[in-house]
Amino acid sequence: MVARYIIEIEDCGRRFPCPEDEGVLQAMERQGWQAIPVGCRNGGCGRCLIRVICGAFRTGLMSRRHVSEGQGAQGLALACRLYPQSDLTVRLATPHDRAATENENARGA
Ligand code: FES
Repeated sequence: MVARYIIEIEDCGRRFPCPEDEGVLQAMERQGWQAIPVGCRNGGCGRCLIRVICGAFRTGLMSRRHVSEGQGAQGLALACRLYPQSDLTVRLATPHDRAATENENARGA
């Protein structure tokens, strides 16, 4: 049986269920919401960058150009490749989060 968890987007207070085997972005879209920016839905464009504030998760294959291993360890993730393993509270990436990604790429990390 597939577990289902509650995802809360802190910025807008929206909450929705997400099965453990479905990406957070896809679960959000299936319910007709657009709270997280949508792009390729495939881990490649970086548009759906979010920060996990609390909760357990795993990630699928995603471009290291948009989330380095270090940033991933700090909770940044691409929502289309984010799979919950508990209820999650997330927030949209800030300009600071995105700038940090660009700076890390510029340093060749
Ligand atoms: S939508 Fe492109 S990386 Fe998630």
